[in-house]
Amino acid sequence: MSASFAIKLDSSINGISKAVELILKGELVAFPTETVYGLGAMASNETAVAKIFKTKNRPDFNPLISHYSNIDAIKLDVEFNLLASKLAEKFWPGPLTLVLNKTPNSRISGLASANLSTAAVRIPSHPIAIALLEQVKLPVVAPSANPSTRVSPVSAEHVERLLGDKSIYILDGGSSQIGLESTVIDLSTGHPRLLRYGGTNLSAIESVIGPIEIANEFSDIRSPGMMLKHYSPLCPLRLDYQNPKPGEALIAFGPGPIPEGFAAVINISPSSNLDEAASNLFAALHRLEAQNASGIAVMPIPTEGIGLAINDRLIRAAKL
Ligand code: TXA
Ligand code: MG
Repeated sequence: MSASFAIKLDSSINGISKAVELILKGELVAFPTETVYGLGAMASNETAVAKIFKTKNRPDFNPLISHYSNIDAIKLDVEFNLLASKLAEKFWPGPLTLVLNKTPNSRISGLASANLSTAAVRIPSHPIAIALLEQVKLPVVAPSANPSTRVSPVSAEHVERLLGDKSIYILDGGSSQIGLESTVIDLSTGHPRLLRYGGTNLSAIESVIGPIEIANEFSDIRSPGMMLKHYSPLCPLRLDYQNPKPGEALIAFGPGPIPEGFAAVINISPSSNLDEAASNLFAALHRLEAQNASGIAVMPIPTEGIGLAINDRLIRAAKL
């Protein structure tokens, strides 16, 4: 019998074994990764994958990422190529997702890859995710564990707040350290393209495989991570902080004086450290959303390194 509301599991050996058992039975289990919490299901089980789309209210044209504990298993499901090998060697396990052509006998269901001939794969570095994936021994799809368009969760409490009324299980493994989703690179054609900024810096990737084209909404409507509205809190968010509005909260950055007149202030990195800011951003948005801020204003954050991913998320969060 499945749960009628979210049930938490602890991350003990027993908790992880229970999560493995549930995934193999076709249930949905949210679990921690180093980027954000994912909502996991067996990639080969169409019924389980369908439940993911329904639970997240996700459009079925938006494909999912399959998660693995090792490269040999990935090679059963997608065609690895030279560029993929180079990036895998350098960045896996870690916050990088590769889009590759599916193999003829790929175990990733058509629904999971939105009936495309390609599929997205990654090896996360979070020890609980790896322990889970090693025991499941099959690909596990895991979109961020939030309803479509909302802010991704970076703790079990966030998942509970976002999906607590759904029939899912939540494996509690503390906070996700990186705090933003993986970088997505399309390697399915001869020329690599960035489909989503994320936890692995573009410059680091380019130093391994050379320059990468940056896809946008207009060049490729099939990369739905580029859909405009996304990562949005329930209240309006704006990318400037002049003239505070009543009840508005501020997300501050850097050591400078905090502008006056905001109902609440969270400084996501007083020392202007971009990794720290990335790690704190979604948690700050969840906190301000839970406090019923009437709006959120954000101070400028430099567009370099992971700051590119931070700004990408903020721009989408600010879309109406
Ligand atoms: O960090 C992450 O990647 C997290 C954790 C849980 O691993 N997962 C995540 O999944 O962010 P999701 O579903 O929220 O985002 C998956 C992204 C979407 O932008 C989707 O469009 C893109 O990957 N994607 C997946 N398969 C694709 C494909 N075959 N072609 C193009 N884009 C694809
Ligand atoms: Mg997502």
